Amino acid sequence: MKTIIDKVNKDDCDVNIIDKAGKILKSGGLVAFPTETVYGLGGDALNKEASGKIYAAKGRPSDNPLIVHIADKEALYELASYVPESAIKLADKFWPGPLTMVLNKSAVVPKETTGGLDTVAIRFPNHPVAIELIKRSKVYIAAPSANTSGRPSPTLAKHVEDDLSGRIDMIIDGGEVGIGIESTIVDLTSEVPVILRPGYITKKMLEEVVGKVEIDKAILECNKDKNYKPKAPGMKYKHYAPKAELYIVEGSQEEVVKTINKMTLENESKGIKTGIISTSQTKDSYVSGIIKCIGSRDDDVSISQGLYKVLREFDECDVDIIYTESFMDDDFGQAIMNRLLKAAGYKIINGGIL
Ligand code: TXA
Ligand code: MG
Repeated sequence: MKTIIDKVNKDDCDVNIIDKAGKILKSGGLVAFPTETVYGLGGDALNKEASGKIYAAKGRPSDNPLIVHIADKEALYELASYVPESAIKLADKFWPGPLTMVLNKSAVVPKETTGGLDTVAIRFPNHPVAIELIKRSKVYIAAPSANTSGRPSPTLAKHVEDDLSGRIDMIIDGGEVGIGIESTIVDLTSEVPVILRPGYITKKMLEEVVGKVEIDKAILECNKDKNYKPKAPGMKYKHYAPKAELYIVEGSQEEVVKTINKMTLENESKGIKTGIISTSQTKDSYVSGIIKCIGSRDDDVSISQGLYKVLREFDECDVDIIYTESFMDDDFGQAIMNRLLKAAGYKIINGGIL
């Protein structure tokens, strides 16, 4: 299959391109499109054959449910069998935005879309291209991240092309995404809402709207106790690991720079090619190795935006080891560290050892 790739200006979308994509979705085809978090691989959520094609294109296990994207809050009543008060409050506060809510599904949502579950994950993305596509096509769009299963989520159309070209009908290139890591998922089917995946919308932000919120223990504890089973099926799969061994180096900024410089020089003397994930604050303090800057510590979103891009770039350089600085793990930082820890297989070096 030849994949059509069309560029759009996100602030002034060409409706002809959006309508071309809409036709593909309506006839059961697949279109990748930008959202404010990462690129999604879209198909008609109410068409079970389209959902089947999404799993096949990504190489995704079929018990890993898809997120259904909507562009109007009223759609909740069509897709969910029951809409609790908490969902209405959260939708009013955070939609459109990077929050996905899990609710009991209605009969119109096929089990092929929900990986066999009786619940459905729903999100109203805050991106003009995604919103136009949903509105003009009049299709609820099932969309996982538009990467091959096991690779980092795409933050540029080029990442989608690298992974899925020839396997999907169309890619809408709307430029680089804003946040760069996937939406927060909150399960509203239990008495107390539970965060299944951390993201830009933090526990604190949710609690300000609906009171007490819990975090799925598996997110916090899965590295320590393998008996916790995550409630979001996708969180249990082995996550993206770069080709090189990735280590997170913790400690004060000064300790971290010193330790990474020492280890890099030692590696290079043994012919081990080394990559470094630095920040705007430290990039000029490293003396050797392949140095890439993830973003600025003054701006968390610049770091989330750079994370998957830098990891993909290192896969294209021939490095054996990557050292990355560590980030705060409170609030939004928790979502960033959740992705980084998984990519590193939880390998941490204490930068204070020197
Ligand atoms: O930001 C995002 O959420 C992006 C963009 C494209 O919207 N999408 C995304 O989708 O990250 P995906 O498929 O890569 O991740 C969806 C996650 C998986 O971990 C899946 O298991 C979980 O959502 N999920 C989906 N439906 C669920 C349900 N009914 N119950 C529990 N977890 C669910
Ligand atoms: Mg994904």
